[in-house]
Amino acid sequence: MRLLVTGTRGQVGWELSRSLLPLGDVVALDRRQCDFSRPELLPGLIRSIKPDVIVNAAAYTAVDKAEREEKLASTINGTAVGVIAEEARKAGILLVHYSTDYVFDGAKQMPYTEDDAPNPINAYGRSKLAGDIAVRQAGGAYVILRTSWVYAGRGHNFLDTILRLASEREELRIVDDQIGAPTWARDIADATALIIRAICQEQTQGQFASGLFNLIASGATSWHGFAKAILEDATRLGLLQRVPQLKPIPSEEYPLPAARPKNSRLAGDRISERFGIALPDWKQGLARCIEELGPRLRGDNIRARTI
Ligand SMILES: NC(=O)c1ccc[n+]([C@@H]2O[C@H](COP(=O)([O-])OP(=O)(O)OC[C@H]3O[C@@H](n4cnc5c(N)ncnc54)[C@H](OP(=O)(O)O)[C@@H]3O)[C@@H](O)[C@H]2O)c1
Repeated sequence: MRLLVTGTRGQVGWELSRSLLPLGDVVALDRRQCDFSRPELLPGLIRSIKPDVIVNAAAYTAVDKAEREEKLASTINGTAVGVIAEEARKAGILLVHYSTDYVFDGAKQMPYTEDDAPNPINAYGRSKLAGDIAVRQAGGAYVILRTSWVYAGRGHNFLDTILRLASEREELRIVDDQIGAPTWARDIADATALIIRAICQEQTQGQFASGLFNLIASGATSWHGFAKAILEDATRLGLLQRVPQLKPIPSEEYPLPAARPKNSRLAGDRISERFGIALPDWKQGLARCIEELGPRLRGDNIRARTI
């Protein structure tokens, strides 16, 4: 089996290029090799690679910047995804694509299910929703995995930011009224591999049906709770020179260009019922990720790091 991974320098894409290796021949492309801002080039590229599966981890993910670059975000997250989905349908390729909690407005009091109607409140969310719709409308074989609050040991993310700020500031003021499930990119990639293998079996038995599935760590917390756990784990492992005070604040005290949903919780029942997959509690994923970062961060390394 040949698997094409896009966005291989991103958090999920990087992990996929390792997690998918046991499944077959992995062709992992970065932005230079496969540029979604030029969707017209994508069909030719896919035809030259002839994959059996495309796992699309490329995306415009700069949530605040998207407010002033909505057209570009929409081309990358919407138009290009539609072009890929159409090509995948024509060539009989399975498309695995990632969606986001930011397609919702966050007004629901309970975790969002796959059947809840999206209502994005920022440009990034609108662009990602356009991609979800395009994948469905193309009518090929697809799986959309909707995840939230992704972090990893590489790339720019909340974990990286908190560890850096911990060495720079006496006090960190962190939003406490947005809740979601911090999800380790490694866990997403490993689960993706299991899902692809299960789908291959389903396809062999003529039982495959395309669908959208929430794929998130178990449990939930606020950004403040996430920051607290990061500092606790990093302290336990001796990775911090000093520990800043953490102050919970409402979103209104930390205004950003893009509005964020207050409730980002996604229900994981459907993926568990179909594929028998439930990601570990977010604290477990975080502890493993930080433990792995340890050797790199120990001593003065944290202080020397810059974004
Ligand atoms: N990050 C989150 O919190 C989060 C939450 C929910 C869902 N998701 C979704 O999960 C998926 C993976 O996200 P991630 O966290 O791994 O994102 P990420 O770390 O930002 O990686 C995205 C990758 O896409 C690449 N990319 C950007 N513009 C591109 C273009 N024009 N053509 C080709 N590639 C381009 C980036 O390239 P460079 O490395 O060159 O910049 C980067 O490698 C995405 O679909 C995202 O929407 C993410």
